[in-house]
Amino acid sequence: MLKLAVFGDPVAHSLSPRIHSAFARQLGLAVDYRAIAVPAGQLPAALASFRADGGSGANLTVPHKQDAVALCDRLDRAARQAGAVNTLVAEEEGWHGCNTDGAGLLLDLDRLGLSIEAARILIVGAGGATAGILGPLLDRRPAAIHLANRHRERAQALAARFHGVSAGGFDDLPTDRSFDLLIQATSLGHLGKVPAIEPRWLQVGAAAYDLNYGQAHRPFAAWCKRQDLPVFSGFGMLLGQAALAFEEWTGKRPDPWALASLGNL
Ligand SMILES: NC(=O)c1ccc[n+]([C@@H]2O[C@H](COP(=O)([O-])OP(=O)(O)OC[C@H]3O[C@@H](n4cnc5c(N)ncnc54)[C@H](OP(=O)(O)O)[C@@H]3O)[C@@H](O)[C@H]2O)c1
Repeated sequence: MLKLAVFGDPVAHSLSPRIHSAFARQLGLAVDYRAIAVPAGQLPAALASFRADGGSGANLTVPHKQDAVALCDRLDRAARQAGAVNTLVAEEEGWHGCNTDGAGLLLDLDRLGLSIEAARILIVGAGGATAGILGPLLDRRPAAIHLANRHRERAQALAARFHGVSAGGFDDLPTDRSFDLLIQATSLGHLGKVPAIEPRWLQVGAAAYDLNYGQAHRPFAAWCKRQDLPVFSGFGMLLGQAALAFEEWTGKRPDPWALASLGNL
């Protein structure tokens, strides 16, 4: 029996136990996957006791993704680029830290037929999720990536860690830009709100992808509908990153899209 868990705070709402249990059934593997509530600062002790109980892999969510970097003996390239870990794999000594968020997003964009190559991408939001997706998006060689964030300094500091990413606030977007993919990466949907996006920033034929899903996706989905802008929720990214984490632990990749019925794909 493979012992796995997601650590976070809050974590009771997490869909990860259902997703990973379904992956295990799909592949005929015995997996015990739990959600474990761990407050900020208490991850080292929680991981030590999980390991002592036979835990061999974990997912991390808010507030642990960044703090976990210092706890890993080894990081994959995506975790190094993001400065954040969403997947831990037990090794003989210590933990291997991975970040499957960006690759999970790419799996979903491919499924949706949204091309990144040569695209002009506007990402609204510059938090941990944006840090996780930038490296994998850049690997696909888009024509441009611009970050717009409420606190422009945060966006500028993040952009400075990557080659070829520009950044600013909402009121200083370059006027010559018109984007063909809008990625909504703020947490405003959880407050029932949308960021101050100007439709004139977007080209005719543009599409939008919201990292939020479920209830938190609804405000942005409604805004996009009013602009006649096709929009997709981040539920596919959630399934994609989970499938890649499951592969890190088991060596087998489940079919994430078989779980469409768990959410709105
Ligand atoms: N689909 C998936 O698998 C997946 C994976 C990861 C995250 N997510 C979702 O993506 C969202 C972002 O996550 P995160 O980890 O990046 O969060 P985070 O690190 O807390 O960053 C939050 C972002 O939202 C912005 N924001 C928050 N309140 C705002 C307000 N009142 N007005 C304008 N901007 C505001 C922040 O701007 P400032 O910097 O100016 O504060 C920042 O850019 C969350 O809703 C999360 O659930 C989804």
